[in-house]
Parts: sequence; C-alpha cells; structure tokens
Amino acid sequence: MAFLDLMLYDNHGRNINYLRIAVTDRCNLRCHYCMPEEGINYVDRKELLSFEEILRITEVFAQLGVNKVRITGGEPFLRKGILKFLRELTNINGIKSTHITTNGTLTDDKVNSIKEIGINSVNLSLDSLDPDRFYKITRRDSFDKVMTTLTELIDQDIATKINMVVMNRHNIEDILPMIELTKHNDISVRFLEEMPFNGTGSHSGMKTWNYAQILEYIKTYHPKLKKSNDHPNSTSMDYTIPGYDGSIGVIASYSRTFCGSCNRLRLTPTGLLKTCLYDSGVFNIKDLIRAGASNKDIEQALHEALSHRAKDGHEAERKRAHIAINESMATIGG
Ligand code: GTP
Ligand code: 5AD
Ligand code: SF4
Repeated sequence: MAFLDLMLYDNHGRNINYLRIAVTDRCNLRCHYCMPEEGINYVDRKELLSFEEILRITEVFAQLGVNKVRITGGEPFLRKGILKFLRELTNINGIKSTHITTNGTLTDDKVNSIKEIGINSVNLSLDSLDPDRFYKITRRDSFDKVMTTLTELIDQDIATKINMVVMNRHNIEDILPMIELTKHNDISVRFLEEMPFNGTGSHSGMKTWNYAQILEYIKTYHPKLKKSNDHPNSTSMDYTIPGYDGSIGVIASYSRTFCGSCNRLRLTPTGLLKTCLYDSGVFNIKDLIRAGASNKDIEQALHEALSHRAKDGHEAERKRAHIAINESMATIGG
C-alpha cells in the first residue's frame, strides 16, 4: 500500500486508483460511432508503448495507490503477446483487479486463458443481438464469434458486462432483447450514450439518446425497474428488474453526470496520458521514458498533471476548444 502522501490526488480532492490502458489503436471492426468505413490512420508500431514499458508504468502507478487496471484498445486481442502480457500485469504488486474491454471477435477460443490468468471481469461491446443490425453497425460479419465469446464468459462464470451504444434509428429495437439476456444470466447490460469520438471530427451522424430517454423507454416496458446502489466511482446508474438474475445500467457518457467521483486516468497506445476522456492529453509518458526518465521523474510528472485536472468532462472539453474532437475511441480506449 502506498503511503498517503505518495498517493495520487487531483486538485479537486479525487483519489486516482484506476488506470485504463489502451494497448493498440487497431481494430478489426468498423463500428460507425467509432471510426469511418476506411478506418483511421493507425500509428506506426514503433510509436506504440511496448509491453515492457506498459508494465513499468503500471508498477509506478501501483506504487502510487492505483489498484485497478482495465485493458482496452482498439481491440486488445489484436496485439501479439497479449495473454503473456496480461499474466504479467496481474502479477504486479498492488494491482488488485485487472479487467478487459473487448469486442469479443477474437476471444471465442481464449476465454479459458482469460479465466486461468485471473482476469476479474470482461466488458463486451455488443450493440445488437440481430446479425443484420450487428453487420450494419460494425461493418463486419463477426456476430457469431462475439456470441460464442459471450456464451463462454457466462459458462465459465466470468463477471461480464455488455456495453451497448444506444443509437436512434439503429438499435433501439435491441434494448428489450438485451434486457432479456439478464433474465436467466447474472450479467450486466449497460446502455451507453453515444459520444463524438468517431474519428471523423464530424458529429452530425450522432443518433444520441440521452440517459433520461433510455431510462424512460426501459421503464415503459419494465415499470417495476428498481434502482440499486451504484458502485462507488462507477460510470453506470444501475437497476434491477424483480425476478431477473442480472442487472441493467445506463451510462451517461455524453451527459457526463458522474465526473464528481472520477477516479481514473487513461494511457493511450502511444503513451499519452489523459486525465479526462474529453481532454486532448496532458503529457506523453513514452517520450519521458525514452528520454531516460526515472520512476521518480514519472511520479513527479503525474503529480504535476493532476494539479490542474479539469473538474469534469465539460470543462475538459472547453479547455481543448482550439483542438477539435476528431479522435476515434480506438485511439483513446473508451
Ligand atoms: P467498470 O470498470 O466495469 O465500471 O467499467 P467502465 O465503465 O469503467 O469501462 P468500459 O470500458 O466498459 O466503459 C464503458 C463506457 O463508459 C465507455 O465507453 C464510456 O462510454 C463510459 N466511460 C468510461 N469512463 C468514462 C469517463 O471517464 N468519462 C466518460 N464521459 N465516460 C466514460
Ligand atoms: N460513443 C460511446 N461509446 C463508444 N464506444 C466506442 N465508441 C463510442 C462512442 N463514440 C464504446 C465501445 C466500448 C466502450 C469502451 O466504448 O462500444 O464498449
Ligand atoms: Fe473497434 Fe471498439 Fe471501435 Fe468498434 S468501438 S471499431 S470494436 S475499437
């Protein structure tokens, strides 16, 4: 456990104990809310943090009290050597839980390994339970693989959350079938507001339903929807339906209602540190490391970055006013 004065606090008194690491910006899907059909300009591989560098950085964070890590992408399972890396990550002193966010297209035969390595939970991105709609949203024909991953996760009793981005005119008809998945399975289905990180710089295509609309829709069909206690620092407002084994969540990712308890930092595939999903990055850890920085130097840079952290995602967005949001979620890691 880190000494109190060494732990990470921001200028608003929030303790940082959660690090999200995007290990690649590459993806084998083309979800239209995330990137254009032709994809994004992927970074040169030598610009990526190496696994050794990520492990070192995580050790530094762990010494400062970070105990939860989430691996994201792009699609993390596209990166060669990911399983070995995950094993090493889970063994870092101080890291109490390791999680993955994946699109599930490459994991249908890897759930055994995920379980054996001791990954604590998997968040699966799945926006439709209908193969045709899945294809229209992701522009790829991988529905069966994702469903196999989901079945395997449930069979192997791995804590699972489905992330469904709600888009008017694209997948509203999937909300109720998604909820039905929680009837006999102890999983969580979370409905996400769409955000402008689609890699095009244009937000005109956004088909946003905000969290209130999503909730109102669900309550029309499930009037007994019951609020449960949200996990501390969670992005999700959680609910249950009497008689259902699982739970339902709504994530106000665009409305940004949960910033007051935000405990997270993000590391992009190229080593940029983000203190908010909506900021444009505060400094590059890879550049520091490759210039010979010591762990102490990294610590100092972290404390400095946290001394002027935006109070919420709206402020972070305002502060970047001169740098338009044109990233893809794949380069941020969600
Ligand atoms: P848990 O660790 O299970 O709570 O998951 P998580 O919500 O941290 O992770 P996940 O990768 O599943 O993220 C789901 C969605 O939550 C993301 O796509 C975003 O929509 C939203 N989200 C996560 N973190 C933030 C954040 O810091 N700000 C905003 N605005 N949205 C976030
Ligand atoms: N808006 C909201 N969620 C998004 N995701 C990717 N792009 C967007 C976007 N523009 C989701 C993915 C994944 C999570 C990490 O982020 O579906 O589940
Ligand atoms: Fe790939 Fe995830 Fe982006 Fe879809 S949302 S294209 S699965 S990185």
